[in-house]
Parts: sequence; structure tokens; C-alpha cells
Amino acid sequence: MSIHIAGMGSCIPSVRMTNDDLAKRVDTTDEWIRSHTGIGTRHYAADGLRTSDLAADAAAKAMAVAGVAPEDIDLIVLASATPDYFGFPSTACIVQSKIGAKNAAAFDITAGCTGFIYGLDVAASMLASDGRSTALVIGAETLSRIVDWEDRATCVLFGDGAAAAVLKKSPTEDGRGVLHSWLRAKGEGYEALYLKQPARETAFGRDGDYSRPAKIEMDGKSVYMFAVKAITDVMDNLLSKSGMDINDFKWIVPHQANLRIVQAAAKRFGLPEDRFYMNIEEFANTSAASVPIALSEMAEKGLLAKGDLVMTMGFGAGLTYGGTIIKW
Ligand code: UT7
Repeated sequence: MSIHIAGMGSCIPSVRMTNDDLAKRVDTTDEWIRSHTGIGTRHYAADGLRTSDLAADAAAKAMAVAGVAPEDIDLIVLASATPDYFGFPSTACIVQSKIGAKNAAAFDITAGCTGFIYGLDVAASMLASDGRSTALVIGAETLSRIVDWEDRATCVLFGDGAAAAVLKKSPTEDGRGVLHSWLRAKGEGYEALYLKQPARETAFGRDGDYSRPAKIEMDGKSVYMFAVKAITDVMDNLLSKSGMDINDFKWIVPHQANLRIVQAAAKRFGLPEDRFYMNIEEFANTSAASVPIALSEMAEKGLLAKGDLVMTMGFGAGLTYGGTIIKW
């Protein structure tokens, strides 16, 4: 048995904002953003669109590439920090309805920017059990709806987007597919990156000002330090778990949070920076969507050949971190 990615698709929203565009609204400069993060532009969903709209579009494209019909989907796992509804229903259920995947189970995963990596492991494990053969794993975000426009240190970092992978189980073992996964969390750091909103701590009173929108709150420095350590921990542990050598990998596809974090990891492993696939310059940080958007773009550009070894990795709110080894 093997469980492999049979197709990928992405949805890149139409509103493209350059650093100079943002500098008209926020006290910042193209020079600061580029030199501190590597970001040049980001894309925002047009007014009226929600996370499920981007996710459904990406899912339809992935299904077309994989050649599967909506009724073939047994499972939809959607990772997002910006679901259509905070709490319930799951955005996965809304996507199920939009794409007509009437035979699917559907649920969301909350694992911050590591969401797609967690989702791959969950879906692959569920496919391995009886009676399921095809899953959609989706990372989808509309972070433009929750950034704090008064906080220049965070609002410039994020973008919207979605991408989906069709995971298929095949009865024959051909050595391809999702081979290894390593997931962790450091829950004690949960306050370093969270969605600030009124507390719900009493039954009969509603404490807090519910008229104020929820906003991203991040301690950038401590998340940065966590991320640099997380990325190297993920690489070390995936290598020791798999017995593989870092030089066996055609590509390392990291979460696109900050170019400097990836440069630090490349240095630590003595790897050329171009072994890490980066598209942060165009899309900024799209949280759970960043790794699948990168994979989808690579597949479209013909950068992923059958049998190529790919390492993915993520880190983010939770604080979560983890990675996957995929033989394409
Ligand atoms: O996906 C989830 C994971 N998230 C991350 O991985 C993010 C991790 N953190 C980071 O990438 C970095 O901490 C940031 C990019 C968020 C910030 O970079 P930094 O080098 O840590 O900057 P800083 O917050 O220490 O700010 C340095 C200076 C400050 O000015 P003063 O106090 O030195 O005068 C800030 O006010 O830069 C200023 N600054 C800005 N200036 C222009 C902060 N943001 C901006 C801005 N434009 N957008």
C-alpha cells in the first residue's frame, strides 16, 4: 500500500498588494519589509470572499489534476487559522457542500501555520485504515481579515490564499508517497501568537467588548527564535527517523514566514539556499496555505518529478511544528 499526492491545485486571490501599496496605509517601507522578511507582495481575497471560497476553488483544481470526481472523496481535512466561522461549523463542511463531495467526512484542523503538515499526517493515517481511498487536504486562509492594521510589525507579513492536495491510496507498494511525518507542539508558548478576542469566561455575562474585531497578536522576536530552532529540530528528527541524508532531498519546502529563518537553517545544514523552495517574495506568509501553495506552484512549474524526495516543514501558532517526507 502507498499513499501519494495525486494532484494539487491552488487559489491565488486577485488583489495584489505591493509593499509600496501598503506603505500608503501603514508607516512602513519596501526596504524595511524586504530586508527583514524577504516579502515583496501579498495577495488578498476580494471583498465578499471567504476562506471556503478559496478552498473550494483550490480543491476543484486539485481534483481536476488528479482526475477524481467529487463523489470519490472520502475525507476532507481543512487546515486554517481563519475559518469562515470561528468555532463551528467547520469550513471543511462548507467546502464539501460547495464542491459536491457528498460521500466525504469533513473536519477542520487548528494547528496554525503547521496545519497542512498536520493535515497530511491525519489524512494519510485515516486513509491507511479500511474503506477509504481518497482524501482532500486543504490549507486555506484569509488572514487579511484578522490582521491588526495598527501594528506595522505584523500587518505587513500576511497574505491570503489556498491550496489543496488529493491524497490517494493505492494497493501496490511502489515506494512513493507520504513516507514519514514528525509532529510536535510547545503549548507553553501559546501566547506568543494568538487571535486576540474577548474572553468567554462567564455563563451569564459577556465580558469584553464584542464590537471590536479579533486581531492577530504576535511576539515577533520569541516566535522568530522558536522558528529557527523548530526548523532545525524538524530536519534533524526527520533525518534520524528516516535514516536518509539531507543530500538525498531534491527540495526542502518550508513554511514561508521569513526568508531569514530559512537562511539560518540553510547555514546550519551547510546547504545551498536554493535547495529550499521559496515564494515568500510574491505571496508573503499565508499560514496553513503556504506549504501547499509552494508545492502546487512547484508541480505546475514541472519542478517535481516522479520519485523526487521532498521534505516539507512548518511552524507557527500553538506553538506547533513538524514536517513530512514525501517521495513524489
Ligand atoms: O507564521 C508564523 C510564524 N511567524 C514568524 O515566523 C514571524 C517571526 N518573527 C519575525 O519574522 C520577525 O520578528 C519580524 C519580521 C516580525 C520582525 O522583525 P524584527 O527584526 O524582529 O523587528 P522588531 O520587531 O525588533 O522591530 C525592529 C524595528 C522597531 O523599531 P525601533 O523600535 O528599533 O525603532 C520597529 O518599530 O523595526 C520597526 N518596525 C518596522 N519598521 C518599518 C517593525 N515593523 C516595521 C515595519 N516597517 N513594518
